[in-house]
Order: sequence, then structure tokens, then C-alpha cells
Amino acid sequence: MNEWILGIETSCDDTAAAIVDASGTIRSSVVSSQLDIHNAFGGIYPEFAARAHVTSILPTVHEALKRAGITPAELRAIAVTRGPGLIGSLLVGLNTAAALGAGWGKPVIGVNHLRGHLRSADLEERRVRYPATILLVSGGHTLLAYTRGAAEIELLGSTRDDSVGESYDKVGRMLGAGYPGGPVVDRLARAGTPSIAFPRPMIDKGHDFSFSGLKSAVARYMESTANPSREDVAASFVAAVMDVLIKKSRQALERYPSASFVIVGGVAASPQLREAAAGLCRETGVELCLPPLRWSTDNAAMIALAAFDYLHLSILKPPVAELQLTIRDF
Ligand code: KG4
Ligand code: ZN
Repeated sequence: MNEWILGIETSCDDTAAAIVDASGTIRSSVVSSQLDIHNAFGGIYPEFAARAHVTSILPTVHEALKRAGITPAELRAIAVTRGPGLIGSLLVGLNTAAALGAGWGKPVIGVNHLRGHLRSADLEERRVRYPATILLVSGGHTLLAYTRGAAEIELLGSTRDDSVGESYDKVGRMLGAGYPGGPVVDRLARAGTPSIAFPRPMIDKGHDFSFSGLKSAVARYMESTANPSREDVAASFVAAVMDVLIKKSRQALERYPSASFVIVGGVAASPQLREAAAGLCRETGVELCLPPLRWSTDNAAMIALAAFDYLHLSILKPPVAELQLTIRDF
């Protein structure tokens, strides 16, 4: 055997490990969540996140191996998220991967977290039709990318400041929610009217995004208004976010011929976004692809599969033997 890949992901608040086999099939995927730890703070507390990774990383890796029914000797490589993310959290995954790689005599491949997310679009179902435009909307990132296949991903634009998920979380906190704020904001928005004219930052400025101005506008409105309606604030905030996401996605689909439009990241759980994206796809005749949420949020299978692409599609040249015991950027 010796062809399977162990993936490790610790860039934020989830400790994750997964195994993919020689054909790129996911054999196990384990995610240990820290939600209980961070909920009380209304956001992720980096120091606590790193400490929790230290405690859970080895049990999570062992569980992934156990569920896949293999021993470390059967691995071809260890793939680990090298960034971007919270530095303390990343270091736990990177050091663990380096130590396991040294102990087990396996090469270690450092995978860019965003490449993993983009790969997650086609993780299990393999129903993405190429070329595809991908919208990544998570707690850490907001970006649009265009892909002609797993080996070729072009970044069209990303956020200049806050991510969409982060603004949902901050607005959620202003409206009295814990972490994550997204689901609470969604629920309040459904009961409200989008009657407040919040700004749509950078809506007509290319494929890049900006959300900090919108977040500040909501904060100013909350401070300066006596008895604000939480429902109307949420509905107006969500309406502004949807206008920006859908307009920029429409522009990308018009400019880059796409067979499918894929949405990944935690904010893909938003029913308002799913509905708006369905409307956009009906209009443009592009197929909408919404991967199951367990693959859309942080997981290690996407990291292992990005490394699988690297090893099997030979995207980067040096043979794997040369990578032995060094962490290579990918
Ligand atoms: O992808 P993810 O799980 O983690 C990162 O890689 O960052 O995304 C988490 C983000 C949080 O900001 C959370 O508020 C948001 O996804 N989120 C939602 C919903 N569920 C989670 N945002 C809007 N509507 C939701 N239903
Ligand atoms: Zn992520």
C-alpha cells in the first residue's frame, strides 16, 4: 500500500485530521470542534485555540488512522495546513506534522489553507463541472476564484479587510449573539425588513471585497439609534452583504465562462445566500454547486486531497523523495 495521505488542519478553531487513499477517496475525516470554548467570548480567542489544539491534535490524528483502519507505516505522506491562519494554532499542526514525519519517516507537505478550501468544492461528490467560478466565504476569508480543473486555480479577487464571516460574527455580537454569529443574524434577518440603507462597500470596484465599512456602519447605527429593531438591522445588513456577493459573482460569471458556480465556507450555510445564488444561476444558466456543509467548513480532508493533487497531478516538480523531512510550501 504505502500510498495513503494523512491530512492535518489546525489553522483556526477546529482540530482536524483525515485520511485519503491512493485513489483520492476519503477514508476518514475527524473534526474536533472548540465551539464550546469560544462561544462565551463572541469570537475566537487565539491563545485558547492554540492550547486546545495541543490537547486534541494527537487523539484526533489517532482517531483518523483508526477509522481508516491503517497504521502510519501505510502512509505515503503527511499534508498539513501551513497558513494562512492563527499563528499559534498553525504552529501546533505544523510541529505535530514535522514530528510525526520525522518519527515515521514520511515526507511532510505544507498546504495553503485556501487551496484546501477551493479543493473542497469537489471533495466527495465530484460533481463540479469545469470550468468553475468559486466563491469562498468563511470566517477567515472572502474570495472569488476561477478554476479550469484541480491543478489550475486563478484568484480573481479577495477581501481588502474583514471577511464576510467575520462581519456576520461582529454584527451578531452587536445584536447580542454568541459565536458564531452567522446563524443568529440569519434568523433575526428572516423576521425583519431591510429598511436601513447600509453601504455596499466596493460594489462597483472589480472583484475585490471590503466589509469593514459595512460593519462600522452597523455599529454607528446601533450606537446612535434609540431602541433599534434587531430584526431590521440584521435584515438590512444581510441585504447589503447579498448585494455585494451576488453582484461580484455575477460579474465574474459574465467575464469567465463557467459551467458551474461553487460556494464554499461557513457562510455558505446562509439560506439567504443559497437562495440568491440559486436565482443568479437560473438567470445565467450556470449550474449551482453547494457542497455539503461538512466539507464546506474547515476540515482536513480538503488538505489531504490538495496534497493528493500535488502528488498525482505533478503540479510542482521536485520528486517527493526530495521532500523527505522538509516541509514544502504548496
Ligand atoms: O468556514 P468556517 O467554518 O471557518 C473558517 O474557515 O473561517 O466559517 C465560519 C464562519 C463564521 O464567521 C460564521 O458566523 C459563519 O461562517 N456562518 C454563517 C452561518 N453559519 C456559519 N454565516 C451566515 N449564515 C450562517 N447560517
Ligand atoms: Zn477555513
